[in-house]
Amino acid sequence: MQAEINYLGQLHHPNLVKLIGYCLEDEHRLLVYEFMVRGSMENHLFRRGSHFPPLSWGIRMKVALGAAKGLAFLHNAKTQVIYRDFKTSNILLDSNYNAKLSDFGLARDGPTGDRSHVSTRVMGTYGYAAPEYLATGHLTAKSDIYSFGVVLLEMLSGRRAIDNNRPSGEHNLVDWAKPYLTNKRRIFRVLDTRLQGQYSLTRAQEAANLAHQCLAVEPKLRPSMDEVVTALEKLQEKGDMPKRNQKERRGNAHNRSNGKPTTYPKPSASPLHV
Ligand SMILES: Nc1ncnc2c1ncn2[C@@H]1O[C@H](COP(=O)(O)OP(=O)(O)OP(=O)(O)O)[C@@H](O)[C@H]1O
Ligand SMILES: [Mg+2]
Repeated sequence: MQAEINYLGQLHHPNLVKLIGYCLEDEHRLLVYEFMVRGSMENHLFRRGSHFPPLSWGIRMKVALGAAKGLAFLHNAKTQVIYRDFKTSNILLDSNYNAKLSDFGLARDGPTGDRSHVSTRVMGTYGYAAPEYLATGHLTAKSDIYSFGVVLLEMLSGRRAIDNNRPSGEHNLVDWAKPYLTNKRRIFRVLDTRLQGQYSLTRAQEAANLAHQCLAVEPKLRPSMDEVVTALEKLQEKGDMPKRNQKERRGNAHNRSNGKPTTYPKPSASPLHV
């Protein structure tokens, strides 16, 4: 608790949830954060039902970039902060789907000098924690990169990191999806079917490849958060739409009239489609 206050009080960034105030009185402990109207990424990705329509590819990539910037800021802080509990429930969204990271209760100072940070008790959340951290309790910034890879994979697939309701062999998202991520043709097995028609194959491959790099078993092979931010910024660029959509737009512009009524998806007024 005290750690959280210390960190949050000093760290300001557009992609970190603001700590507005706190109360420490006898056994009463309270942290007051800015209110994030759209709640957590976890709710949007996994709570089914009319209340939360599926997030578009554009929104998912925007949220991934925002979260990556928040994490990069923490990693680059004068005294490096390792997040340690990076997961979709800790990515909160404002009205414009700007992502802000919350919950620094588990955050720790990063390693200084050559020493890597050793903590005896493994904390964090199962399904997101890096294999070397689970095995040894050694915590480095690279553990966060792994967790980021898991989150990116959840966003791409619409599946939870751990889901015991799936068929056997698919309970653990990373174990199941990893072989597909670098395969051009099989990548579609992983991608959320609700995203169909919203991304180009190139963009999907780039995103899947990035997740794959973050999930490298060897920590040294994982990119830095700065590199992740650069890769995600590239993914935001428009102009590389799926072929089908390009045809549709051309068709619209020329106002084809071949006798048959042409059905195009209605332009959506929903902010979910950017
Ligand atoms: N500042 C906030 N604004 C709006 N909703 C919030 C805020 N903080 C938390 N929430 C909502 O409350 C839920 C629970 O948050 P909480 O941090 O208590 O648990 P968690 O994120 O699921 O797990 P953990 O305790 O490991 O972080 C979040 O998933 C989010 O939907
Ligand atoms: Mg939380």
